[in-house]
Amino acid sequence: MVDPKLRVLISAEKIQIRIRELGAQISRDYPTGQLQLICILKGACFFLTDLARAMQRDVSIDFMGISTYGKGTSSSGEVKVTKDLDISLEGADVLIVEDIVDTGVTLNYLMHLLDQRKPHSIRIAALLDKPERRLRPIHVNYVGFQIPDEFVVGYGLDYAEKYRNLDDICVLDGSS
Ligand code: IMP
Ligand code: MG
Repeated sequence: MVDPKLRVLISAEKIQIRIRELGAQISRDYPTGQLQLICILKGACFFLTDLARAMQRDVSIDFMGISTYGKGTSSSGEVKVTKDLDISLEGADVLIVEDIVDTGVTLNYLMHLLDQRKPHSIRIAALLDKPERRLRPIHVNYVGFQIPDEFVVGYGLDYAEKYRNLDDICVLDGSS
């Protein structure tokens, strides 16, 4: 896809190298027991499939749909569950797999929601982190890359449902 508005920020190769490191680290941190991955739709689906295969351990997978953004690039601040989990989290070791932490509003809400379901533990893996934009405190246990305050697309991330299938993570110029 050649698009003059797109500028590569993190190449596909760098993404894959980092995900292999994260997979190895998470595998070491959870040496035994069942690990329940929760993919936050839709943006984290590419990250989930690569991260799960980078782990040297068994994992279970489920999906949760959350929407915070409308069609633009700025958050409405409103969080909505659009698809809930199929499974119970009681007693489970849970790893939330998210594409990007921006204001922290989504994950802050989600942590409170999932904590009420009595898991044994909950941690967060986010491919990208924009720490400058934080409005709510949130501790992200596994971060792929910290990035500056720019709107990015690709590798699952969209702008109005476009660009998710790019291999690289790109800055979308003129989007804000
Ligand atoms: P937060 O609640 O502000 O942390 O936003 C988290 C959600 O906003 C992410 O799961 C993304 O879906 C979306 N988002 C935040 N920043 C970007 C971006 O730069 N590109 C695409 N989506 C983004
Ligand atoms: Mg998202």
